[in-house]
Amino acid sequence: MQVIERIEPLRIALAESRRGGERIALVPTLGALHEGHLALVDRARERAACVVMSLFVNPLQFGPDEDFARYPRDREGDGRLAEARGVDILFAPQPDELYRAGHTVTVAPNALASRWDGASRPGHFTGVLTVVAKLFNIVQPDVAIFGQKDIQQATLIRAMVRDLDFPIEIIVAPTVREPDGVALSSRNAYLSAPDRKRARVLSRAIFAMRDAFDGGEHSTVALESLGNAVVRAERKVQLEYLAVMNPDTLEPAPVAAQGSIIAIAARVGTTRLIDNVILGAPDSSA
Ligand code: PAF
Repeated sequence: MQVIERIEPLRIALAESRRGGERIALVPTLGALHEGHLALVDRARERAACVVMSLFVNPLQFGPDEDFARYPRDREGDGRLAEARGVDILFAPQPDELYRAGHTVTVAPNALASRWDGASRPGHFTGVLTVVAKLFNIVQPDVAIFGQKDIQQATLIRAMVRDLDFPIEIIVAPTVREPDGVALSSRNAYLSAPDRKRARVLSRAIFAMRDAFDGGEHSTVALESLGNAVVRAERKVQLEYLAVMNPDTLEPAPVAAQGSIIAIAARVGTTRLIDNVILGAPDSSA
C-alpha cells in the first residue's frame, strides 16, 4: 500500500493506474477505522482494480461546539487496517493540503440539508459536500462507496453527483452492526459502559418499527408511536428525531412502503448517534 500525503504525487500515481486500464474506487473516511469502513473497501474491491482510501478529519464539517479536536485519530493503526484489507493507496493529507490559505469556495447543499442531521448540525453538509467534491476532483474515481448509516449524507452526495455532473457511480453499502444490533461508528468509542448498553435502544426502536411494518402495519403514525415508546423506556436517552422518510427526498412519508427509510438520531450521554433501516432491504441485523 502506498501512503500519499500530497495531491500532486497522488495524481501521478493514479494517472499510472489509469494508463494501465485500471478502474479506480474511492472510499472516503474520517479515519478511526472499524469493520464498517473495511466492508466499504470490500465493496470497492469488487468494482475496481485500484482502491483509494482517503483518511482526513475534515475540519469544515464540524461545528464550533462539536468534537473536531477530540475526534479519534490513529494514523498508524488505520494504516495497518487499510493495508491488511487490501487498500492500494491511502491518501492522508494534512488540512493545509486540502484547504490552502485563502480557500473560500464551498459546495452548498440543497434544502434537504436543513432537515434531520442538518437541523442540529448547521453547516455540516456544506463541509461534507465540499470535501467530497474536492476528493472526487483529486482522485477522479469511477466509483465511490459510502455507508448507509449516514443516509442523509449519502442522499446529498447522490444529489451533488447528479446536479454537478460528476461521472462517478455512487454505491451505498449496508450498515455493519455489533452482535447486539448497535451500528458501528467511530463515535461509539466515546460511550461509557452504561451508555454503550443504552445505545442499543436506537436499533431496537427502528427494528421494532421495521418488524411491525413487515407484520402489515403501514401507518407512519402507528409506527412512529411504537418506536417512540421503545425509546422512552430508556430514560437517559434523548431522542432528537425518529421518522419514516421517502428514500429519494428524505421528506417525512405519510405512509410507510417498501424502500421507505426509518431513521433515528438520539443523544446517549453526551454522544449523538444515528441509525436507520430501509424497509424491505436486507440488513446485517436481519
Ligand atoms: O462519512 C464520513 O466519514 C465523512 O463525512 C466523509 C464522507 C469521509 C467526508 O469527510
